[in-house]
Amino acid sequence: MGIGEAFARELASRGRNLILVARSAERLRALAEEFRQKRSVAVEVCVEDLSDAESLGRIYEFCRLKRVDVDFLINCAGLSCAGDFAEIPYKKLEEIIMVNVMATARLTRLFLKEMIERKNGSIINVASLGGLQGVPGLGLYSATKSFIMTLTESLHEELHGTGVNVVAVCPGFINTGFFKHSGHNAANLRLPMYGTEVVVKAAIKGLRQNRIRVFPTLIDNLLAFSQRLVTRRVVIRVAGFFAAVKDN
Ligand SMILES: NC(=O)c1ccc[n+]([C@@H]2O[C@H](COP(=O)([O-])OP(=O)(O)OC[C@H]3O[C@@H](n4cnc5c(N)ncnc54)[C@H](OP(=O)(O)O)[C@@H]3O)[C@@H](O)[C@H]2O)c1
Repeated sequence: MGIGEAFARELASRGRNLILVARSAERLRALAEEFRQKRSVAVEVCVEDLSDAESLGRIYEFCRLKRVDVDFLINCAGLSCAGDFAEIPYKKLEEIIMVNVMATARLTRLFLKEMIERKNGSIINVASLGGLQGVPGLGLYSATKSFIMTLTESLHEELHGTGVNVVAVCPGFINTGFFKHSGHNAANLRLPMYGTEVVVKAAIKGLRQNRIRVFPTLIDNLLAFSQRLVTRRVVIRVAGFFAAVKDN
């Protein structure tokens, strides 16, 4: 769903064969059937819970069994939990780190080697504007997105000249079920919400231009740039103000 579904729709419309991964089996199957019918592409569904460490190897094995060479990996699945760090349930803390951090790192590691051998590959890592600094009320989430951004930066340089491109896309607020899922009241947000298409467009363009990271909207670009002009304390407080996690 959300941004991941938007990526899948765009790639299917470009005639790419797909492997869809998430937990919602019925939803994935319906989407796969739609793409097969309307776009004449081959689509496999791999139902896995990325918070289960074993799932990551199973996804790789699934591709091997299906004799699929993955030449385009989109690490998009992610979640948050709105509220003070001291209040996050331990189980949720682990789930967020597993899905946002471990799944991205392990899946990239699993598929990258063969991309390098084939001298052909693309990786889009979905980070966030929230990864540019800590965000009060979203501390763990913003830390996981910082991880994705710095990992992508290192990889981008390591992969120079290998034929494999990697980009981090850093969206601001996007209209998906994300806020409901994380208990973050979207009505409080102090910045506009955009549709998923801006993320997909920016990421694919960024990949084509071999950028390290891209910010989908003008506001995202302005916020990222303005960080250079003020102190770190101001940056963090402004981020907390815009995200407005607390209701008062
Ligand atoms: N929406 C925003 O404002 C925003 C802004 C910046 C960055 N992002 C990032 O964009 C990415 C996508 O978010 P979204 O806005 O599209 O949120 P969303 O609508 O809540 O979708 C989250 C997706 O992740 C999958 N997912 C979550 N937990 C999973 C698990 N344990 N195993 C497998 N799949 C799992 C979900 O599928 P199932 O539930 O079926 O498993 C769903 O497809 C995330 O990384 C998020 O951090 C979002």
